[in-house]
Amino acid sequence: MRGFFLLFLLITSSSFLITISTSTDTLTSSQILTTNQTLVSSNQTFILGFISETNSNIYLAIWYKNINPRTIVWVANRDNPLQNNSTNGGFLKIGDNGNIVLLNSSLDSDNNLVWSSNQTTLTKNQVFLQLLDNGNLVLREKNVNDPTKYLWQSFDFPTDTLLPSMKMGWNFDKKTEKHLTAWKSTGEDPSTGDYSFKIDFHGLPEIFLWNDEKIIYRSGPWNGERFSGVPEMEPDTDSIVFDFSSNEHGVNYSFMIGNPSIFSLLVVDSSGGLQRRTWVESSKTWTTFWYAPKDQCDDYKECGPYSVCDTNPNPFCVCVKGFSPKNEQAWKLRDGSDGCVRNINLDCESDKFYHMENVKLPETSSVFVNMTMGIDECGDLCHRNCSCSGYANVYITNGGSGCVMWFGELVDIRSYFDVGQDLFVRLAASEIATVTPAIDTNGKRNVTPIIIATVIVATIIIAACTYFLWSWASKRSAGSGQTPQENQSASLIRDVKQVKIEDLPLFEFKNISTATNNFSSANKIGQGGFGSVYKGELPDGLEIAVKRLSRASGQGLEEFMNEVIVISKLQHRNLVRLLGCCIEGEEKMLVYEYMPNNSLDFYLFEPIKKKVLDWQKRLYIIEGISRGLLYLHRDSRLRIIHRDLKPGNILLDGELNPKISDFGMARIFGGTENECNTRRIVGTYGYMSPEYVMEGLFSEKSDVFSFGVLLLEIISGRKNTSFYNHEQALSLLGYAWKLWNEDEVVSLIDPQICNQEYLDDILRCIHIGLLCVQEIAKERPTMATVVSMLNSEIVKFPRPFQPGFIQRQIERRGEPSVNRVTVTSMQGR
Ligand SMILES: *[C@@H]1O[C@H](CO)[C@@H](O)[C@H](O)[C@H]1NC(C)=O
Ligand SMILES: *[C@@H]1O[C@H](CO)[C@@H](O)[C@H](O)[C@H]1NC(C)=O
Ligand SMILES: *[C@@H]1O[C@H](CO)[C@@H](O)[C@H](O)[C@H]1NC(C)=O
Ligand SMILES: *[C@@H]1O[C@H](CO)[C@@H](O)[C@H](O)[C@H]1NC(C)=O
Ligand SMILES: *[C@@H]1O[C@H](CO)[C@@H](O)[C@H](O)[C@H]1NC(C)=O
Ligand SMILES: *[C@@H]1O[C@H](CO)[C@@H](O)[C@H](O)[C@H]1NC(C)=O
Ligand SMILES: *[C@@H]1O[C@H](CO)[C@@H](O)[C@H](O)[C@H]1NC(C)=O
Ligand SMILES: *[C@@H]1O[C@H](CO)[C@@H](O)[C@H](O)[C@H]1NC(C)=O
Ligand SMILES: *[C@@H]1O[C@H](CO)[C@@H](O)[C@H](O)[C@H]1NC(C)=O
Repeated sequence: MRGFFLLFLLITSSSFLITISTSTDTLTSSQILTTNQTLVSSNQTFILGFISETNSNIYLAIWYKNINPRTIVWVANRDNPLQNNSTNGGFLKIGDNGNIVLLNSSLDSDNNLVWSSNQTTLTKNQVFLQLLDNGNLVLREKNVNDPTKYLWQSFDFPTDTLLPSMKMGWNFDKKTEKHLTAWKSTGEDPSTGDYSFKIDFHGLPEIFLWNDEKIIYRSGPWNGERFSGVPEMEPDTDSIVFDFSSNEHGVNYSFMIGNPSIFSLLVVDSSGGLQRRTWVESSKTWTTFWYAPKDQCDDYKECGPYSVCDTNPNPFCVCVKGFSPKNEQAWKLRDGSDGCVRNINLDCESDKFYHMENVKLPETSSVFVNMTMGIDECGDLCHRNCSCSGYANVYITNGGSGCVMWFGELVDIRSYFDVGQDLFVRLAASEIATVTPAIDTNGKRNVTPIIIATVIVATIIIAACTYFLWSWASKRSAGSGQTPQENQSASLIRDVKQVKIEDLPLFEFKNISTATNNFSSANKIGQGGFGSVYKGELPDGLEIAVKRLSRASGQGLEEFMNEVIVISKLQHRNLVRLLGCCIEGEEKMLVYEYMPNNSLDFYLFEPIKKKVLDWQKRLYIIEGISRGLLYLHRDSRLRIIHRDLKPGNILLDGELNPKISDFGMARIFGGTENECNTRRIVGTYGYMSPEYVMEGLFSEKSDVFSFGVLLLEIISGRKNTSFYNHEQALSLLGYAWKLWNEDEVVSLIDPQICNQEYLDDILRCIHIGLLCVQEIAKERPTMATVVSMLNSEIVKFPRPFQPGFIQRQIERRGEPSVNRVTVTSMQGR
C-alpha cells in the first residue's frame, strides 16, 4: 500500500520535472538527474553521476570520462550515502532556495534530503548547475555572464584529490579552510577517512599530513620554488607550475598543468600516503611521480630536537654539531626521539652560528619572520636576541631572501644529499672553533670508527676515485663509439663530480680490521667474484657487513666505484644502506648495515627455513621489493636500472623487511634515455630479460622482467635457474605459463602458503608475475603499474602473453659474467 502511495507521488511529482535525456554539462531548475544519468563536461573530460563502489551505498561523484579504471576525484555525499536498495534511488536537482539538493525520493521534503550545497539564497529559477572541463561542479547565476563567478563550487569542498587549478588553504577573512581527506578505504568506501592533508599557517605556512589528530608528515615551509622537504617537486616536469601564496588574508596552494590534455593530481590515499600522479595515456596507467612519507626520515619527528634525520648513517638520527644524545641508552637502540642536548651552554654575547647545508628547515610553528630582511641582518638580529636558536633564509630564489628566526628547540630537521636549504644554528663559540673541516659538516656521527679525515686525504681520495671512474668510463665508451654510451659516460662523470666523497663517512682500515677480528674466517659471511664479505662489530655495538675487494680484481674496482656513486645518492627503506667506505692503499671496502636475516634465497629455497615465510610475509616482501624498485626507476632523482635483481640480492633485516642490495651492476640513466645498449652483458642467468641476453638491450623493463621471475619464485618457492624436476625441460616461467593456459595455475603455488583464504591474492600476484616476464619488453608493465596492481588500485589486468625463456636455460650467448653467480652465495650482510 505504502509502495503504491510512493509510486503515485513519484509519478505526480515527476510531471513537474523533466529528466535529462542526452549528455549535457548543465542541469537547469526544471531538470532532474537520476541514478542512471550523468552530466558530461563540454570537452568530455569529466563525468558527474551516481556511483556504487563495492557496497550497496550510492554516492554522487565526479570522475574522468576516458580513464579506465574509473578514477573518482570528488564525492558529494561521502558521509551521507544513499541506499542502492531504496525504492527510488537518488535524485539531484536544484532546490527551492537555489541550492543543489540530493534526495532519496523525488519529493521535495526535508525528510528526503541526503545532501545539499547549502549556500545560496537565490530562488530556484535564477540558477543552473554546470560541470566544467577542469572537474569543477559549479552553481551559476543565469543572467551573470562572467563564467568565473560561481554561487557554489565543488572545488571549495575537496574530498581526497587536488586537481589542477583547485586551491587548498585558508581564507582568514571568511574563516574558511579547504583540505584533503582520504577515503576510509581506497576504491571501496569514500566516507571520511583518518588521513588528511592540511595547511597550517602558524609561523611559516606548511602542509601537514595528519592521521586523525597526529601529525605524521610535514612538507617543510615553501621556499619560493617548492616545499623545503620535497626536493622532488621540480617545476619543469610535465610543465607543472606549483603556486603557493600567503598574505594577511589567507593561504593558497595549487598547481597548474600547461597542457590541459595531461591529467595530473595530488591524492591522499586511505593508507596515509600522499601521491602526485600523472596519467600516462600510452600505458593507460597512473604513474606516481612522488609520494610521502617516502622513508623513515619523512616520518614526523623521527629524530628529536637538535638532531638531524639522515638516511645514510645508521642510526638515522645524528646530533647537530655541538650537541650529544639526550638519552644515550635509547640512542644506541636506534631510538632518536629524545633528541640531543648542548655540550656547552650558551653564553649569548659570544655565541656563534654553525652553518648546516642541505637540510629541510625545522618546524616553524614558533618563529619570527620578516620577508624583506636579508640573511646578514637576520643573523645580526638573531645574535642580539639570546633566545634565538637559529635562523635561515625563507626563500632560496635569487640567492636567498627573507628571514626566519627560531625561538626554542629546532625539531624535525632532515638532511638531503645535494638539495635543501642552509640553516644557522646557535652554538657556544668554543664549539665552532673545533669544527673539523673535511667531514662532520652536517654534524654526522662522531664516533671512533668514522674517522675524520684531513682535507688532504679527502682530496687524494676524490682524485683517486675520479681517476678510477674516468679510466673505467673511458674503457666503457672505448668499446663502442656510440652516442648513448658517450652520453652515459659523460653523465656518469658528471655524477661523480657531484658525489662529494667526503659526505660519505670514511672508515679507517685498522678500525675495520678490529671490527672484523682481523678479517678472520669466522667472520666471513660471503665470497664473491671480486672479494669477500665479513661481519663486523663497531666499538659502539653497531653491526656491520664489510665488502672487501680482492686486490687483483680490476673488474671489482669498477663495481666498487659504481656502487659508491649509485648508492650514496639513494635513500629508501627498501634499499640496503651504505654506511661508508674505506680506501687505503690497495684496500677498497664498502661498509653496509648488517642484515641479520641473510638474503631471501637463504629462506625461500630451504625446505625448513621457508616455513617462516607465510603468505603475508611473502606479500610484504614482494611489495617492499616493488617499492624499492619503483624508487630506483622513478622516484629517486636519478633513474637507475639495477640489472641484477635476484633473491640473493634481496637482504632481510631483523623484521624481514626486504632491502635491495648490490648496486655493482646498476646503471644510471640520463634524463631522456629510455633504453641502452651494452656489449658487456652482466647479470645472472635466469633473471635477465631476453632482449638483454640476446641483444644487450637494457631498460627499466629488464628489471621488471627480473622482478617477475623473483615474484614467481617467491610464490612457488622454487628457483627459476634450477628447475629440473619437470619432464619437459621447462623453466619456471615455461611451467607457470603451461599451468596458466591449462587453468591449473593453483598447482604452481608453494604448498606452504596455498591457503583458500588468500587464494585470490596469490592468483593476482601470479598474474602480475606473468605480465612482468612477457617476452616483448613493451608489453611488460612499468614498476609504477606493478605497484598499483599490487595495491589493487588497478583491478582489471590484461591477459598475459607468452613469457620469455619458457624453455630451460638455452645456450649462453653474449659474454656472460660468470663470477656474478658466485656472489649469490654471499650471506647475511
Ligand atoms: C532510468 O531510470 C528511470 C527511472 O528510475 C527509468 O524510467 C529509465 O528507464 C531508466 N533509464 C535507463 C536507460 O535505464
Ligand atoms: C576544449 O577543447 C577545445 C578543442 O580541443 C580546446 O580548444 C579548449 O581549450 C578545450 N577547453 C577546455 C576547457 O579544456
Ligand atoms: C545498484 O546495485 C545494482 C546491483 O546490486 C547495480 O547493478 C547498480 O549499478 C547499482 N546502482 C548504482 C547507481 O550504482
Ligand atoms: C537496504 O539494505 C540494508 C542492508 O541490506 C538495510 O539495512 C536497509 O534497511 C535497506 N534500506 C531500504 C530503504 O530498504
Ligand atoms: C530518505 O532519507 C531519510 C533520511 O535519511 C530517511 O528518513 C527516509 O526514510 C529515506 N527515504 C527513502 C525513500 O529511502
Ligand atoms: C548548512 O548545513 C549545516 C548542517 O548541515 C547547518 O548547520 C548550516 O546552518 C547550514 N548552512 C546554511 C547556510 O544553510
Ligand atoms: C586564494 O584564492 C582565493 C580564490 O581564488 C583568492 O580570492 C584569494 O585572494 C587567494 N589568497 C591568496 C593569499 O592568494
Ligand atoms: C622587516 O625588516 C625590514 C628591514 O630591516 C624593516 O625595515 C621592517 O620594519 C621589518 N618589518 C617588520 C614587520 O619587522
Ligand atoms: C627576543 O625575541 C622574542 C620573540 O620575538 C621577543 O619576545 C623578546 O622580547 C626578544 N628579546 C630581546 C632581548 O630582544
